[in-house]
Amino acid sequence: MELTLKSARRFVDEIPVPLVVVGVWGGELSEEGHKLNQKHRKMLSKMMEELSFKGEFGETLLVPLGPRRSESEGPGFVLLFGLGKKRGVSLETVRKAGAKLVQAIAKLGFKEAVTETFLSDKFGKKEASYALAEGALLGGYSWHKYKTSSSASKRGEKLRLWLARSSGPAVDRAEIVAEAVNYARDLVNEPPNVLNPEELARRTREMAQELGLGVEIWDEAQIKQAGMGAFYGVAQGSANPPRFIQLTYKPQDPSGRVVALVGKGLTFDTGGYSLKPSESQITMKCDMAGAAAVLGAMRAIAKLMPVVEVRAYVAAAENMISGSAYRVSDVLTSLSGKTIEVLNTDAEGRLTLADAITYADQQGADAIVELSTLTGACVVALGDKVAGLFANDARWGREVQEAAERAGEKVWPLPMEEEYLEALKSNTADLKNTHGRSRYAGAINAALFLGEFTKKPLVHLDIAGPAYTEKSHDLGQAGGTGFGVRTLVELVGL
Ligand code: BES
Ligand code: ZN
Ligand code: ZN
Repeated sequence: MELTLKSARRFVDEIPVPLVVVGVWGGELSEEGHKLNQKHRKMLSKMMEELSFKGEFGETLLVPLGPRRSESEGPGFVLLFGLGKKRGVSLETVRKAGAKLVQAIAKLGFKEAVTETFLSDKFGKKEASYALAEGALLGGYSWHKYKTSSSASKRGEKLRLWLARSSGPAVDRAEIVAEAVNYARDLVNEPPNVLNPEELARRTREMAQELGLGVEIWDEAQIKQAGMGAFYGVAQGSANPPRFIQLTYKPQDPSGRVVALVGKGLTFDTGGYSLKPSESQITMKCDMAGAAAVLGAMRAIAKLMPVVEVRAYVAAAENMISGSAYRVSDVLTSLSGKTIEVLNTDAEGRLTLADAITYADQQGADAIVELSTLTGACVVALGDKVAGLFANDARWGREVQEAAERAGEKVWPLPMEEEYLEALKSNTADLKNTHGRSRYAGAINAALFLGEFTKKPLVHLDIAGPAYTEKSHDLGQAGGTGFGVRTLVELVGL
């Protein structure tokens, strides 16, 4: 749907729209709801009682207020929106409520509505406004670019939602961040025949020009020339050439600190000669979700203008099979000079990332955050809602973890256990890209491999689980989730 948010200082019943939304929390009307109830001869509470409406989370009850001659007579309907139990409520409840609310209003067919800013007395106006607006904008996201039927175009309907007694600056910020998340979702959802490395680079350049970011893009010759042999090895099997994408945000009054964001940019991962079974390939257009998160974050960062300098790096490639594709047993020389024996062509992400991380380090990053749909093993460990967090520096790890907590994205630390590093040593080269036949600690081994390419503080987020979903979820429809954007913005965009 096409959702527009409007922040208003006024109370819910002072905005002339056909529908007013108030919350029901712990089975009771909110304060605003209470006032509205008094004004309408207790119609709301009577209705709640009659229909035993308890206000379970996301439950709704539409109450018609009777016929009216014009909009100036006030709203025609009140929508009671359930916020669930009093206990355990958090800003995440408000965020989810925003997402569910816009879907409910659209389903009812209203084009304009006003809602109270749920739980702002509990969490503060700013925080509640932010969470509600962000949830609404994420929940209102839809992607149907390639649908030609009229039912699909209907989903593009417009809705204007007023947030009564909300904080304008908080809503503005939520708009910037949610737009960036939805931008990342668009990139992930785009099919791989459209979004190949060149197209990803073209869109990045377009964005950089629009927002005034520095941009540099290398083609395959420059990648080879620079010595990125690990990245190039992965890319060499595809008819679609790789691109190395660099974006820079420079603050006006620099604090001196440089943060690098690195994102895995496999626009499709077949597995290469260590071919993935066809079912495992179904979601592999999401293998550039790390890149999408980083590019989405840069979008928001360019608008929010934080004091730190931020540089983004994406090694974009396609992992394919052909007469020129890399094979098992090949030895690649990485940008760092370290040689790598390929034991599995499906462990390609770490090869591309090795060179991107080395380059970020060489360019002078003080700290690096890298996001990648890196291992199925991480999904086995943490499921599809939680990203694995690996840090070679406890402080930087905590900083990123706290940013994720504030942003409402779930991450959980896993150890970079040094004892396992031995298993990544090769008889032929310096390293091998997998530890051979063992299925133990796959996510940790991948993280340890990346850790060999920088001594700077590095956080690796394995987002293989939460980056993509085949079912709709609390904050949106099936497809790319835009996971990571909010954490990155929270980390650098204060
Ligand atoms: N892109 C995959 C990881 C992945 C799996 C992402 C599921 C999203 C959902 C990655 O390149 C890969 O194939 N990793 C291998 C590593 C193994 C060969 C050591 C894996 O997880 O099986
Ligand atoms: Zn792979
Ligand atoms: Zn991959």
